[in-house]
Amino acid sequence: MKKILIVFGTRPEAIKMAPLVNEFKKHPDQFDTKLCVTAQHREMLDQVLEFFELIPDFDLNLMKPNQNLFTLTADIINGMKPVLDEVKPDYVFVHGDTTTSTAVALAGFYHGAKVCHVEAGLRTYDKHAPWPEELNRQLTGRIADFHFSPTDRSKQNLLNELTPEKNIIVTGNTVIDALMFAVEKVNHLENDPEIDGLKKLIGWETNTGKVSHESEFPKSIIPDIVLITGHRRENHGKGFENICKAITELAERFPEVQFIYPVHLNPNVREPVNRILKGRATPTNNIHLVDPLDYKAFVWLMDKVKLIITDSGGVQEEAPSLGKPVLVMRDTTERPEAVDAGTVVLVGTDAVKIVNEAESLLLDDERYRTMSMLHNPYGDGRACVRIAAFVSTLQHLQC
Ligand code: UD1
Ligand code: UDP
Repeated sequence: MKKILIVFGTRPEAIKMAPLVNEFKKHPDQFDTKLCVTAQHREMLDQVLEFFELIPDFDLNLMKPNQNLFTLTADIINGMKPVLDEVKPDYVFVHGDTTTSTAVALAGFYHGAKVCHVEAGLRTYDKHAPWPEELNRQLTGRIADFHFSPTDRSKQNLLNELTPEKNIIVTGNTVIDALMFAVEKVNHLENDPEIDGLKKLIGWETNTGKVSHESEFPKSIIPDIVLITGHRRENHGKGFENICKAITELAERFPEVQFIYPVHLNPNVREPVNRILKGRATPTNNIHLVDPLDYKAFVWLMDKVKLIITDSGGVQEEAPSLGKPVLVMRDTTERPEAVDAGTVVLVGTDAVKIVNEAESLLLDDERYRTMSMLHNPYGDGRACVRIAAFVSTLQHLQC
């Protein structure tokens, strides 16, 4: 019996690790699986735990309002000690590039467990972008014993850094496992208050009268929607001011398009976004700020929108599978596969560039069609099966 401890703390880690927890738990004869959340995020994490029906065995409950990287890192390392002492895991699983990932990887290493890194090998090689995530990912890669890479390109990055090839496993990204699970759930939903609320917000129901099922909507009456999300630390301040200016300008130029922005709970995001966009009058009042959506509602919305403008890592991976063009408000990305496939364009945080690129996609049908081709560079939905199968083949604590 292998003792597995899976640890995550933020919304995107939870979405991408939830299917892995469920996969390991399908094999109680092989794995004794425990889940620990640091709760680096709270409300946004709890939304995901509820959707995937996960109950953590340990909850460090660490989030503090407007927390800083110094105390968060220290609190995670200190908080993990008693958990590691109690579980005595053979394998500690962490995900991606957050403070939780790196601090838990280090704690796991100190404790003598083998560290397994999911979504390993993504790189920009600019330690300031994304900040601090690029360095977090590189550090976690140095600490880890086993590396589950989403693509061949991320494997190659690890090989370039002299990571032993036998310890790198290309699995696809677990985000596609999560997305497929969510799409399936959404397709079988009868009524959902959050989704109904979104429909009302964008005038979907008002426009169409009292129809109750989506298939009854005449196509032309569904409004064009632009979905916006953002939270990167390097965009705090001036970056977010520019993003908000660009949204205002677009909303004025395209009064028939609905702009929906689920605003991240980080106060450094909410302050400029609320100050500039909340209650912002446009001729058709078509800017809608909402709280973070649960994963089900967000996936429903992604599937309905015309265009996504974001700086999110996970959304860059999900959108190509749904055939949605994405403008990424970053200068560089550790996820170049969708850029190469033509679904994603990097626009930075220059307001003029964001407006020009969005305008081109809203007006140029040919360009829109090319960018909205379905692509699946990040996986086939079986990443978690591959990870669990690999771990089951390991001899006790082999590396
Ligand atoms: C974190 C990760 C980032 C990841 C992002 C996903 C680091 C350094 N940053 O950034 O890599 O892409 O999550 O969203 O690991 N807050 C709440 N409730 C929540 C979540 C956040 O109120 O559920 C507020 C709190 O005031 C908190 C603040 O947001 O202190 C910042 O949270 P933190 O996790 O430090 O940074 P994020 O910007 O969320
Ligand atoms: N997401 C969500 N609700 C929202 C916005 C995003 O469930 O209101 C999901 C999204 O589908 C993706 C993940 O959250 O899977 C991305 O999280 P975020 O952008 O916060 O972090 P990143 O991926 O940039 O690390």
